[in-house]
Amino acid sequence: MNPSIQDPVVKKKVEDLLSRMSLDQKIGQMTQSERMECTPEDVKNYHLGSVLSGGGSAPGENLTADWVDMSDAYWGASMEQDTNHLAIPLIYGVDAIHGNNNIRGATVFPHNIGLGATNDPGLLERIAQVTAKEILATGVEWTFAPTLAVARDNHWGRVYESYSEDPAIVSSYSGGFVRGLQGDLGTDSVVGCVKHWVGDGGTSNGIDQGETTLSRAELERLHISPYYPALEAGVLTVMVSFNSWNGNKCHGHKVLVTDVLKDKMGFDGYVISDWDGIDYLTEDYYQAVGMGVNAGVDMFMVPENWKTFISHLSSHVRLGTVSMDRIDDAVRRILSVKFAYGLFDKPRPAERSWSNHQSFGSDEHRQVAREAVQKSLVLLKNQGNLLPLNKGSRILVAGKNADNLGHQCGGFTVAWQGTSGNEFIEGGTSIWEGIRGLSPTAVLSRDASAAMTNPQDYDVAVVVIGERPYAEGMGDIRSGDDVIIEAGSQIKGALKVLEPYGHTLELADLHPEDLGTITAIAEQGIPTVVVLVSGRTVIINRELEEATAFVAAWLPGSEGQGVADVLFGDTDFHGKLSFTWPKQTRPTINKGDENYDPLFPYGFGLSYS
Ligand code: GLC
Repeated sequence: MNPSIQDPVVKKKVEDLLSRMSLDQKIGQMTQSERMECTPEDVKNYHLGSVLSGGGSAPGENLTADWVDMSDAYWGASMEQDTNHLAIPLIYGVDAIHGNNNIRGATVFPHNIGLGATNDPGLLERIAQVTAKEILATGVEWTFAPTLAVARDNHWGRVYESYSEDPAIVSSYSGGFVRGLQGDLGTDSVVGCVKHWVGDGGTSNGIDQGETTLSRAELERLHISPYYPALEAGVLTVMVSFNSWNGNKCHGHKVLVTDVLKDKMGFDGYVISDWDGIDYLTEDYYQAVGMGVNAGVDMFMVPENWKTFISHLSSHVRLGTVSMDRIDDAVRRILSVKFAYGLFDKPRPAERSWSNHQSFGSDEHRQVAREAVQKSLVLLKNQGNLLPLNKGSRILVAGKNADNLGHQCGGFTVAWQGTSGNEFIEGGTSIWEGIRGLSPTAVLSRDASAAMTNPQDYDVAVVVIGERPYAEGMGDIRSGDDVIIEAGSQIKGALKVLEPYGHTLELADLHPEDLGTITAIAEQGIPTVVVLVSGRTVIINRELEEATAFVAAWLPGSEGQGVADVLFGDTDFHGKLSFTWPKQTRPTINKGDENYDPLFPYGFGLSYS
């Protein structure tokens, strides 16, 4: 329950406005389009309640000013009252999931898998507060975060969006992150959205949007439990999940959405669908619309076919297959959030105090991200106490991820699938740049060729390896053809299978170039510190064996110098594994499993002290 929603003054305003709305205006509020699929005029003519930017969907030059102008145009149109249109402010949504990661020059925080290793709920709340400010700088009010997934299979393409395989860690963060975003719902606040409801991290084989088969008790223990602290913190929106539970898709699951989330748990904000999430319910879109609304979803992310959605829902109401009571419940919830957040009383985006604020991407904000990087690193091996490095040593830096800001940021950064190279992540520092900053004599040789020509010139090598960016199903690892058939979901009859990232979690097979680089250097007798940039616990047995020291850096984001700080001992290792590190790709193992025999157990992490 959110006390602002329960405020009698808010309730009165909601009922008054609701009583004056036409059916078209009510259905419009339940509809969310995407910025590339609708204009400000559409917002006014169809009374749209929300517009979003999908991952990487940016206006103009993708600067804060372009975003503010865009948001201002949509908001302004929504407020142009006339005989046909009631002034109800639009709410704009983005995936600011590790900072306001879409925008050029934003502070990009470590992805959640790294934050899980910090075990620092206070830090998470500060990250959320900074993220809120960098969202407000773009004139946007709503983020689809935090993700509360409890990822149980490291084959999943979204493991890095999960804090931990352990619901206890996710629960320890969820309330604070919501408070960090939503605060007192004042001028420093944005609207949060916990996702994906429910069981997204529990699908078989880690197939994205797949099937989560669990008893009700296990679903509660593993995947529902982290939502309680978020609801207690007053989170205003929840996003429903693509996956199924015991064969039934969450987007059409009245028990999960209405009976459990709304009635039993008392959630009083609004539920939004995921991207075309109702398409997966049935091949008949008309039926799918009715199923989603009657399940209890309140707002529908229908980026392309929003006009069809509106038309079908209008028909359902006229024919009585969707009741006006259900429509009023959905719109009541949406209006309650908008009034509780003060959206009706805010100035237009262009006139808000945080819009285009100079703190966007500031050193102050980046310092919080640098601290998060430092605390997220996990030291897995340190033979002969090779670490910490001496700043006066002759250091060779190698590996494909040493000087690649795009790779160290991962997916959902500027582009949906992330980027490669340094040009798109403005204002950040690569791991190499961080090392050079502390040890100016260091030499970069990505393919380590320098080690072959003059091995005697180096005391130690730092080899930064790992994955390239990916997002959602395109990040899945699908070992074996059978699981591909399960992949994704039925979209309009044709099984849409997103090309997975690979077919093995063995890093030596997935990215043989990495072991090649490590071996080339180790064979020259140069002690080697391996730094792994990855979105999950890939199988590293062979790389670990060749390394003298081994650091898990996860997806550290824009502030790569946080890695250098720890490698040189300016600050100690702090991180502890929030995911079990397996020895083999199957069976997946998690904390508490029988016959638990990992490469490194949950909670593992060495330090200098
Ligand atoms: C995506 C994701 C969801 C995201 C939404 C909007 O498909 O599942 O996490 O918030 O679409 O980009």
